[in-house]
Amino acid sequence: MAQRALKYACSECGQSTGRWLGRCPGCGSFGTLNEESPEPTRANGAAPRPLLRLVDVEAEEAKRMPTGVSELDRVLGGGLVPASLVLVGGEPGVGKSTLLLMALRAMSKEHRALLVTGEESAAQVRMRAERLGGAGSIEILADTDLDAICATLETEKPAVCVIDSVQTLYSAEVGSAPGSVAQVREASARLLRVAKEAGVALFLVGHVTKDGAVAGPRVLEHLVDCVLQFEGDRYHAHRVLRAVKNRFGSTNELGVFEMTGSGLEGVPDPSQIFGAAREEEIGSAVACALEGTRPLLLEVQALVSPTDLAMPRRVGTGVDPKRLAMIVAVLTRHGGIALGQADVFVNVAGGVRIDEPGADLAVALAIASAARGSPVPARTAAFGEIGLTGRLRPAAQAERRLEECAKLGLATAIVPAATKAHGGLEAKAVETLRQAIGAALEPRR
Ligand SMILES: Nc1ncnc2c1ncn2[C@@H]1O[C@H](COP(=O)(O)OP(=O)(O)OP(=O)(O)O)[C@@H](O)[C@H]1O
Ligand SMILES: [Mg+2]
Repeated sequence: MAQRALKYACSECGQSTGRWLGRCPGCGSFGTLNEESPEPTRANGAAPRPLLRLVDVEAEEAKRMPTGVSELDRVLGGGLVPASLVLVGGEPGVGKSTLLLMALRAMSKEHRALLVTGEESAAQVRMRAERLGGAGSIEILADTDLDAICATLETEKPAVCVIDSVQTLYSAEVGSAPGSVAQVREASARLLRVAKEAGVALFLVGHVTKDGAVAGPRVLEHLVDCVLQFEGDRYHAHRVLRAVKNRFGSTNELGVFEMTGSGLEGVPDPSQIFGAAREEEIGSAVACALEGTRPLLLEVQALVSPTDLAMPRRVGTGVDPKRLAMIVAVLTRHGGIALGQADVFVNVAGGVRIDEPGADLAVALAIASAARGSPVPARTAAFGEIGLTGRLRPAAQAERRLEECAKLGLATAIVPAATKAHGGLEAKAVETLRQAIGAALEPRR
């Protein structure tokens, strides 16, 4: 029998090659290629299957299970769908185990809830549960053997199960070490099958790589129904949960939590903490960004400092670096703010990240304020997307944003032209970035 060729797979991106290389040709990381045992070949003599018409398929809308954590429900799109697979990723220590333990405990009141822990001992989990206020009727299995876990799920059929974490699972059939691409792929595929057959809703905890993606092959993200990203600065108490992929709901919903000694507490009104409490200060502006269906007021801070560097620095925390470079360029070219000889630092308060172009205007105003040395008046928010020509584009769902501003006691909003005033707020409509700067900042003295 001919020997099957060895394959090597990258543990970061899943790229496979025929020979070992020091650097992965897929993602460029060094030393990540590991030997993978070849998959067994299968006989190919399957008989054709009868087909169904889609209209004849019986489908009843599955009733979602509330998880007992309202912010998690919101991100899942209104509760957990039975027999679905949810992957929860996040940096070490961000609070994944805490969040899922709290959800499991709430669900264990009405359903059978199982926690499979491969990372911590049962006693450690018990201690955490005590700190969080009790263990409810959660059942626990401390094991990493994939075959044993699948067999348990098939016989016990809990309604919901948390696997903490998928990288610790090990199947003897696959030769490579736990956490390797082959193991993670095998584990997720097997668990998917078991979840669908036994009707178990599964939460998989996944580790993340340096740049924040869920570690292991991308296959994992394709397999599951829902990918949630739990993020937040370890040095801040606030954590943000977002859906990166969701087969049963919108992906731009956002859940905000606060980490306290007794666990994660949902923050129903995040604008209050992140944006509204701002005082008049040079280099600070309030953005009204829209995350999913939820408008969010965020304080953006900027520092502009003279530099002799040939390539001045543009450093953003919580904003996309490309977007920041673009805003700085438009400010220089169309906003009358010269930044060619200055380092620009931008920070979004509270460790939150903004992805939405509607926040552009507030970022630009914070930078302009820092550069001019004149503050944006208090109780003023801004939103609008900045175009490369210096013209402002209207932002989506302006009314909801204005409502949020009014609700939190702001007086003025600087908005793109064609935005209708709403909610008793003074809306200063401007057409270009230059006009917006004129409306927000006092003229240069
Ligand atoms: N007594 C405590 N008081 C306040 N916060 C605590 C306490 N104990 C733990 N924490 C918080 O819980 C976090 C750890 O949470 P958790 O173990 O759920 O994280 P994780 O994402 O599961 O981490 P890992 O990737 O290591 O499994 C810590 O970062 C800390 O902020
Ligand atoms: Mg954990």
